[in-house]
Amino acid sequence: MADNYLWFEGVPFFNDFSPETLRELRDDFVIKAEDVLTVTYPKSGTNWLVEILCLIHSKGDPKWIQSVPIWERSPWVETNFGYQLLSKKEGPRLISSHLPIQLFPKSAFSSKAKVIYVIRNPRDVLVSGYFFWNLVSTCKKPKSLEEYFEWFCQGNVVYGSWFDHIHGWMSMKDRENFLILSYEELKKDTRKNVEKICQFLGKTLEPEELTLILKNSSFQAMKENKMSNYSFTDGIFLKKELPLMRKGITGDWKNHFTVFQAEAFDKLFQEKMADLPRELFPWE
Ligand code: A3P
Repeated sequence: MADNYLWFEGVPFFNDFSPETLRELRDDFVIKAEDVLTVTYPKSGTNWLVEILCLIHSKGDPKWIQSVPIWERSPWVETNFGYQLLSKKEGPRLISSHLPIQLFPKSAFSSKAKVIYVIRNPRDVLVSGYFFWNLVSTCKKPKSLEEYFEWFCQGNVVYGSWFDHIHGWMSMKDRENFLILSYEELKKDTRKNVEKICQFLGKTLEPEELTLILKNSSFQAMKENKMSNYSFTDGIFLKKELPLMRKGITGDWKNHFTVFQAEAFDKLFQEKMADLPRELFPWE
């Protein structure tokens, strides 16, 4: 069990990550104009967006999502596994990443590749992460939610500070090839947001294809799809089974935070995020 992280340039990572891969992918990995990138702070709805992107690609047909693991359809560029796979992959690629902007492949910033960034209420990200990371063997384990709350507020968790991640990536918000979505809006009106994604990608879909996408990317469908629910992890994670599809709701933090924690988090959020437009945070 991990009792510490791998630190790279001041950011904590899983302890099986390789500094060489992280350095090489930032400096040398080539993002191509036709790539579509899903970028998030972990536990913000990454896999949900990837499932939607795969289904947009297949026009709602679930064959691909039901036969190939999600981490092969849209590999995580910063993992050794994903990096190897992507380096060999031809044609337009779906690429996922949780990297903070300063560690992202530099080539992305002069590329026309489309980037979709999903943002989620950090209180729900915190709770989701607490339950998930506790089961990942390459990750430092908190003794309690109270301890994890402290770590999260300090940025002492995998991929570092939520606040820094958002600030870094929000510097891209006015670019044409950068789309920001929120988990909360995706939940509230999935159809409208899938249409927004299609428009951003320049794809047109028939209404029945859209309906199929919604059906096949629903929480229940993903929970039942063993290629997406992490019940079968193909030996790439140390733990065989990970409960990715936990609750899939907004506001679960209210069931876990104490009044004191809720107030402390509000204060921290105000302090750290005051310089960014309020409309970026629909949950606030
Ligand atoms: P919870 O732990 O709050 O349930 P990520 O993919 O970035 O690791 O995020 C995981 C979170 O997204 C989990 O949140 C998971 O339940 C939620 N999620 C995954 N697929 C979803 C879907 N189809 N609909 C709603 N939420 C989903």
